[in-house]
Amino acid sequence: MKTFLIATRNAHKVGEIRAILGAEFTLLTLNDFPGAPAVVEDAATFAGNATKKSVALANWLAARSERLLVLADDSGLEVDALNGAPGVHSARFAAEDKFKDGNAPDADNNSKLLRLLRDVPAAQRTARFRCVIALTPVAVARNILSADQAAGEPATMLFDGACEGRIDVALRGQGGFGYDPLFIPNGFDQSFAELGELTKNQLSHRAHALAKLRLWLDGRSQNGAW
Ligand code: IMP
Repeated sequence: MKTFLIATRNAHKVGEIRAILGAEFTLLTLNDFPGAPAVVEDAATFAGNATKKSVALANWLAARSERLLVLADDSGLEVDALNGAPGVHSARFAAEDKFKDGNAPDADNNSKLLRLLRDVPAAQRTARFRCVIALTPVAVARNILSADQAAGEPATMLFDGACEGRIDVALRGQGGFGYDPLFIPNGFDQSFAELGELTKNQLSHRAHALAKLRLWLDGRSQNGAW
């Protein structure tokens, strides 16, 4: 059975990744590796941050002999009326106003978003969630493979997904996390927080990225690798 380390401390993300990938895989989290280093997410793109997280964790695991895959998700919200903000700053959106390091509570991020969009009409409140998942096999990071094996192994693979929608004028629903109570996916009238996890996990940015990862893994399995 393939084993992944999901490189996030966000329990909601872990729950969604578990639900979408299913029971076919062994999924470890950073809770299983309490000494794992924290990674500063200072890249300018989702791909850059996801790669930074998965490579750093894979290198840290290099001292161990486990053959697992590190899976890192970097994601966020792009709002067209804000020229793509908060983007890679989604988790720390409201903290930036207070010149604070680290993430801000979801409630503060949502309040800031509503305030910035207060005078923006419905038709211009378009937005999307984006997710990039980086996958790094620890064996590659450990540099333990022979040249022939290494040639057949991927380094870090990237899988992306997006979910188009719009930003509502008020918070709605109790489910999900982050900006879910404000985000209404295209084709629906309810927010992600109202739609519930079953629906969200079929159409979210994360679901699309994980579907691509699944396809790639299935191809690898057929070739007898991973
Ligand atoms: P990351 O942990 O640096 O990838 O930060 C992701 C941030 O983007 C989260 O803290 C949320 O604010 C936002 N975000 C990402 N995915 C979702 C989602 O599925 N729903 C709501 N907010 C999300």
